[in-house]
Amino acid sequence: MPRRILVTAALPYANGHIHIGHLVEYIQTDIWVRFQKLRGHDCRYFCADDTHGTAIMIRARAEGRSEEAVIADMQAAHERDFADFQIEFDNYGSTHSAENRALCGEIWDKIRAAGLVKEANVEQLFDPEAGTFLADRFVRGTCPKCGATDQPGDNCSSCGHHYSPVDLVDPVSKLSGATPVVKSSLHLFIELEQLHGFLAEWTQSGEHLQPEIANYLQGHFLGDPLRDWDISRPAPYFGFEIPDSPGNYWYVWFDAPIGYMASTRQWCDRTGANFDDWWKSDDCEIHHFIGKDITYFHTLFWPGMLKTAGYSLPTKVHIHGFLTVDGEKMSKSKGTFVAARTYLNRLDPSYLRYFYAAKLSSRVDDLDLSLKEFEAKVNTDLVGKVVNLASRSAKFVEKTGLSAKYPDDGGLFAHAAAQGAEIAAAYEACDYSRAMRLIMALADRANPFVEENKPWELRKDADQTQRLQDVCTIALNLFRQLAIYLAPVLPKLAAQTGELLHDEITSWDQAAAPLVGTPVAKFKHMLKRIEEKDLYAMIDDSKEDAAAATPAPASEAPASGAMDVTITDAYADGGEPLAEEPLAEECTIDDFVKVDLRVARVVEASEVPEANKLLRLRLSLGGGVYRQVFAGIKKFYKPEDLVGRLVVCVANLKPRQMKFGLSEGMVVAAGGKDAAYLLTPDEGAKPGDRLH
Ligand code: MSP
Ligand code: ZN
Repeated sequence: MPRRILVTAALPYANGHIHIGHLVEYIQTDIWVRFQKLRGHDCRYFCADDTHGTAIMIRARAEGRSEEAVIADMQAAHERDFADFQIEFDNYGSTHSAENRALCGEIWDKIRAAGLVKEANVEQLFDPEAGTFLADRFVRGTCPKCGATDQPGDNCSSCGHHYSPVDLVDPVSKLSGATPVVKSSLHLFIELEQLHGFLAEWTQSGEHLQPEIANYLQGHFLGDPLRDWDISRPAPYFGFEIPDSPGNYWYVWFDAPIGYMASTRQWCDRTGANFDDWWKSDDCEIHHFIGKDITYFHTLFWPGMLKTAGYSLPTKVHIHGFLTVDGEKMSKSKGTFVAARTYLNRLDPSYLRYFYAAKLSSRVDDLDLSLKEFEAKVNTDLVGKVVNLASRSAKFVEKTGLSAKYPDDGGLFAHAAAQGAEIAAAYEACDYSRAMRLIMALADRANPFVEENKPWELRKDADQTQRLQDVCTIALNLFRQLAIYLAPVLPKLAAQTGELLHDEITSWDQAAAPLVGTPVAKFKHMLKRIEEKDLYAMIDDSKEDAAAATPAPASEAPASGAMDVTITDAYADGGEPLAEEPLAEECTIDDFVKVDLRVARVVEASEVPEANKLLRLRLSLGGGVYRQVFAGIKKFYKPEDLVGRLVVCVANLKPRQMKFGLSEGMVVAAGGKDAAYLLTPDEGAKPGDRLH
C-alpha cells in the first residue's frame, strides 16, 4: 500500500543566502523524499521562504526598497540554489502569501475560541530615531550587575547575568545609535501552559521525537509550568496584521510554520489535490526536518497550535545537528562559511550530497565537513568504487549491448539484491551513513570481479567475445544496482545510468532483477575526481565573499529555550561583483582628488581595425578642448550609437603612445571582461563638469 507522506524542511529566512550549513538539512530531506518516491509512495516535499520579521524590515529600509522587492529577489536566489543542488520541492512558497494569511487567520480564530489568548502590556526598548521597538539583539549597553560595557540585550558576556533589555545601563540602539526609550505596548500571548498535559504526552510518547530531544524537552521545559508565548509585535513590523487586534502583527514564528500548510495549499490548488487529505487525515504522515536550534518551536508551539486548530499532528520531527568545517564553527574569515553559489561555482553538487549522506545519522549530533576527508571520501567511494565499474566496462559493449541472458556471477547480483531491504531500512530511519556503508560494501565486492576478469584484456582476444560481453553485463548490472541504491542521494548519476543502459531508473525494485539484452549507449563521463585546488579555490572565494558582503542584521533568533547554538549571520544580497573584485586598499580624499574625472561628449567614434577590443573615441570636454581615447568596448557598443552621448572620462591621465595613436585619457565603465556599461550623468550635466 503506498503511504501518503507530507515532508517539510524548515523555511529558510529571506534575509540571507543559502549556505552549506543549511544544505545539511535541505539535502537530508531531499534524500528522504526521493527515497520514498522511489519506493512508490505518494510523498511530497513542501517548503517556502520565511519572509517576515524585523530583520527584513530593516534590510529593506537600508536598501531603500520595499520589503516585497527584497524578499522576491532572495526567494529567486534560494530557488536557483536549491535547483542547482538537485533539491526538488513539490511546492516552494512564501510566508508572505495570501494562502498563508488566510490560514493564519483561521488558526488564530480557533486559538482565540479555545480561550488560549491573553493580553498584557509589555515594556520594551523603543528606538525613537528608527521608529521601531528593538529586539534584544538590536540593543547593547552596560551590564546592570557587573558594569561590563557593550553587552547584548539579554545577558552579560562577562558575568553571565540574565536581564531584560530595559534594565541595561546606557543602552544604545544598534540600528541608529540612538538612545532607546522604554515604551509600553499591548502584546498578545498564548497560554501554552493550558496545553501542558497534551504536550507532555505527545513529546514523551517515544513515537514522534528522537530520545535525546524528548529528554531535553522534559529536562528544560516540561518540568515547570510552560511560559506564555508572546505572539504579537506592535507596528511597525513586516508581517501580517492581526485582524482582531489592529496595529499588532503576528510574530514571525507564529506564521512561519503555518507556511508549511500554505505551501501545501498552493500545491493542492495547482494539482487539484484535497488539502484535508494532507493535513486532516489519519492516512497521511507528516514529517518535519529541522535543525536543533529551532526545536522549541517545532516540538512545543507547533504541535500546540495544530492540536488546538484541529489539524493532524506531526508523525515525526527529525532533528539534526549543526555543520562544522574542519572541526570548527563555519567562519567567514577562514572562508569556511561557504555560500551555496560559491560552492557551485567550483564543485559538483553530487560531492556534497554524497558526503552529507555518508555523515548523517538519525541522531542530533553535529556533523563535520573535514575538507581532507571530503576530498578523499568522494574520490575513493564515488569515483574509485562506483563510477569506475561503469567506466571500465561500458565501452566494451557499446556495439553488442548486454548479454541476452544474465551470466553466472557467483551470486554477486543476488547478494546485492538481498541487501536492498536493509539499505532501505537505513534510509527510512534517516541513518544514511549506514545506508552508504552498506552500499559501499557492495561496491567492494563488485570491483574485484572486474579486476579479476579484466575486460580490457579479454577485448584483445577474438575467442573471448562472449566472455567479454558477459563480464561487462555483470559489471554494468552490479553498477546499476549501486546507482539505484544511491539514486536518492545522487539523482544525476541515476539519470546517467538510465541513459547508458536504456532503462530509466524510477523504482527501488529495479535493483532486484538484472537488466539483459538492452543496448548500451556510448559511455559519457559521469563524475570527475575532486581536485584539491578547486576545494581551496572555493575557500578563497568564500573569504572574498565575506570581505565583500555588507553585514546583514541578525536573523530573528529564538527568544528563549533554544539549544546552545549561535544563529549565523546572513549574507547580503547581490555581493557577486564585489566578491569577484574585492575593494581596493583604502585611499584618502587627497588620493581621490588626484584623479580628475570629467563629463565629456563623444563627438567621433570609430573601430580600430587592428585591435579586437578597441574603439577610438574623440571626446569634447567643452570650450574647444578635445581628447583622443581608446576604449575596450568594441564588443559591447557600436560606434554610431556612441556619437553624441555623454560619458565620464579620466581627463588628467598621463598620455600614452599606442600603436594606433596617442591615448589622452580614459572613459570609465562598469563591468568586467564579459560586459561593459558606460556611465552617463543625469540630465543637466555639461561636458567639462568635474565629478566630486
Ligand atoms: N526561518 C527559520 C525556520 C522557520 S520553520 C517554520 C530558520 N531559518 S534559517 O534560515 O535560519 O535556518 C533554516 C534551517 O537550516 C534550520 O532548520 C536551521 O537549523 C538549519 N541550519 C542553519 N544553519 C545550519 C548549520 N550551520 N548547520 C546545520 N543546519 C543549519 O531557522
Ligand atoms: Zn555583567
